[in-house]
Amino acid sequence: MHHGPVTGDEIEDEFGGSADGTELSPLATPNERDDETSLRPRRLAEFVGQPRVREQLELVLQGATQRGVPPDHVLLSGPPGLGKTSLAMIIAAELGSALRITSGPALERAGDLAAMLSNLVEGDVLFIDEIHRIARPAEEMLYLAMEDYRVDVVVGKGPGATSIPLEIAPFTLVGATTRSGSLTGPLRDRFGFTAHMEFYSPAELEQVLRRSAAILGVDLREDGATEIAGRSRGTPRIANRLLRRVRDFAEVRADGSITREIAMSALRVYDVDELGLDRLDRAVLDALVRSFGGGPVGVSTLAVAVGEEASTVEEVCEPYLVRAGMLARTPRGRVATASAWTHLGLSAPANAPGPIPPTLFGSDPAHTAD
Ligand SMILES: Nc1ncnc2c1ncn2[C@@H]1O[C@H](COP(=O)(O)OP(=O)(O)O)[C@@H](O)[C@H]1O
Ligand SMILES: [Mg+2]
Repeated sequence: MHHGPVTGDEIEDEFGGSADGTELSPLATPNERDDETSLRPRRLAEFVGQPRVREQLELVLQGATQRGVPPDHVLLSGPPGLGKTSLAMIIAAELGSALRITSGPALERAGDLAAMLSNLVEGDVLFIDEIHRIARPAEEMLYLAMEDYRVDVVVGKGPGATSIPLEIAPFTLVGATTRSGSLTGPLRDRFGFTAHMEFYSPAELEQVLRRSAAILGVDLREDGATEIAGRSRGTPRIANRLLRRVRDFAEVRADGSITREIAMSALRVYDVDELGLDRLDRAVLDALVRSFGGGPVGVSTLAVAVGEEASTVEEVCEPYLVRAGMLARTPRGRVATASAWTHLGLSAPANAPGPIPPTLFGSDPAHTAD
C-alpha cells in the first residue's frame, strides 16, 4: 500500500484507476481494469455531460485558486457509475494537488481518520467514498476538521481520558455518496458545495462511447453508438461495459466493426433489453408486478423477493427504474407504473399510475423519497 501523497495520475498507475476497492498488483497484465483506467476522464474538459455540475465546480475551483486558498469541501451525490470517483480525481488534478483516498467503511474508528487527517499537507484533497457509511465517532471528528482544520484526539479511557487538540493542514474534503438522504444534517451542512449527478442523456452517452471507442481503438459506427447508448441505463460505466462486451462479439463473430445490427445481436446474447434493464432491474419489476400485483409494497419486502439487499435495490435499481418511469415511490411503498406492466408484456390494471412526465427526468426524484 502506498502511504505518501499521490497525484490522480499516480493513483491510476498504482491502483489501476479504481478507487472503488479493487487494487491491481503492479505485475498485473493488461486487462479490463486497465481499460477502465484509461477510460476515466482526467480533466474537467474531458468530462462528458453534467453541464451544470461542471460549470458550478469550475467556479468553485477557480474562485479558490484565485484567492489562493483550498476550495470549499465538495459533496458528490448520485447513483453508481455516474462519475463521482472520476470527478474527485479531476478536482485534485485541476488543483494540482495530491489526492488521498479512503472510504466511509474503512473509517471504523476515529483513530483511523485522525491518522489520515494528521498526515495531510496543505492543499491536499481528501476523498472519502461512500461517506454515508462513516462510523459515528469518525464523523464527529470530521466536523471539527472540516470547520476549523483541527481534531481532538482523545488519549486514554474513562475519567482519566484527556483530549489533545491537533492542528491539521488546510485541505479540501471531497465526499461521494449514493445516498445523500442518509447523511446526517450536520455533516451535509459542512459541505460548501454539493453536486447532484444526474443520469446521462442518450446523446451524452454516445459522446462517452465515441471517446472510449477512440481510446480502445474500436471501430464504433454511429448507429452502433446510438444503439449502445440507448441501453446504458443513463450510466457511463454501463456504457463502457457494454461497449467492451459488444466489441468482443464484433471481433469474434464479425469483422470487428460495431454497427447497429452487431450491437443488437451482442446485447441480446448478454441479456440487456431495449431499455438497458439488466436482470436485477427486471427481477424487481417482475416481483413488483407479478408477486405484489403492482404494489404498493415496501422496499425491504421487494428486496427479499428478489434475494437482494434492500440498499442495493434502493440505490442501484430504483433510481433508474424511477427515471425510466417504471416505478413510483409513494408514501405507502413502491408502485409499478403502467409502462412497467407493458414492458413485461402484460396489460396494466386501470389503477396503475401513468407514465411519469418527462419534466421529472433528471430531477433525481429517487433521492428525495426515502
Ligand atoms: N462524465 C464522464 N465522461 C466520460 N466517462 C465517464 C464519465 N463519468 C463516468 N465515466 C466513466 O465511467 C466509469 C465509472 O465512473 P466513476 O467515476 O467510477 O463513477 P462513480 O464513482 O460515480 O461510481 C469511469 O471509469 C469512466 O470510464
Ligand atoms: Mg466511485
